[in-house]
Amino acid sequence: MSNPLTIFSLYFSSFFCRHSKKKREIMAEAEVETKKRKKTETEKKTETETKKRKKTKETFIYGNYKNYYGYRIDRNQEDDPRLAVFNREWFEGKDCLDVGCNQGLITISIAKKFHCRSILGVDIDAGLIDAAHWNLRKFARMMKASKAQVSDSTDCSANNICIGSSEKTYNTACSPSEEDIFGRVSFMKENFVASSHGCSEKYDAILCLSVSKWIHLNWGDDGLITLFVKIWRLLRPGGIFVLEPQPWSSYNRNRQVSKTATLNFNNIILRPHVFREILLDKIGFRSAEIVTDSLSGTVAGFNRSIIAFTK
Ligand SMILES: C[S@@+](CC[C@H](N)C(=O)[O-])C[C@H]1O[C@@H](n2cnc3c(N)ncnc32)[C@H](O)[C@@H]1O
Repeated sequence: MSNPLTIFSLYFSSFFCRHSKKKREIMAEAEVETKKRKKTETEKKTETETKKRKKTKETFIYGNYKNYYGYRIDRNQEDDPRLAVFNREWFEGKDCLDVGCNQGLITISIAKKFHCRSILGVDIDAGLIDAAHWNLRKFARMMKASKAQVSDSTDCSANNICIGSSEKTYNTACSPSEEDIFGRVSFMKENFVASSHGCSEKYDAILCLSVSKWIHLNWGDDGLITLFVKIWRLLRPGGIFVLEPQPWSSYNRNRQVSKTATLNFNNIILRPHVFREILLDKIGFRSAEIVTDSLSGTVAGFNRSIIAFTK
């Protein structure tokens, strides 16, 4: 007769073996399940993220780019090269308007470099106008800091800032008119082609730089004519309209930014090569001067012509 203990231990070890085999099987199954679940979860997550990204990918239907100057101006350039071809006489002591000012960098630079009496920058994008106000505050802070540095210094003249040794004096200080930059530069959110803006002759210079294509694509030939007529009405006699039109070849790139743009693109009759003729013969400008027809120092694609029209 077998020992009951032996029977029990045999039974137990067989039970244990079967059980641990079962356990291993269960564990393996569970592992496969977990892996499967994790894979589907990750796939779902990636899908939602891609959808989210697609949804949030901004299209700038008005050319209202947030980092416009980041890719327009060559890294090695300190200033926007357009400033070098502008004529001081257009702006000095004058009231100016910058249509489609974006983040206000050219607007502020004109006020600083050419000491205009006033300059208003308008843009259709409220976020860009906020950024322009921020840039203006930053500029004013820098001016204040420069001024403080001047008063701290003993051997420098009132209009120069000493940086480094006393032999090295850079004329970077602000002139008295730069100090009241807040009084001279302002920004306002406005759709220039739709707003009433008051049509009295109140500006001596109006800039419209790389904006005409966006107005053309969004409001068609009617919008373009509204833009030109409005600018003419707002200018005082003898006033200057500084236009930097985008060439027709660049319209093609943006024709699909919206259904409206596609529709307008297909119906445009007044292409950029006739703008000069329209402004002189139909709108009423007295003369046109080609300021540059290929701007050096700009990133490829931005070396556009600039024309100054006199009312
Ligand atoms: C390509 S950016 C040019 C910015 C700036 N003028 C420059 O050349 O440095 C065009 C700007 O025009 C603005 N814009 C487009 N349509 C406009 C409209 N109807 N009224 C006012 N601004 C407009 C856009 O928001 C954008 O900031």
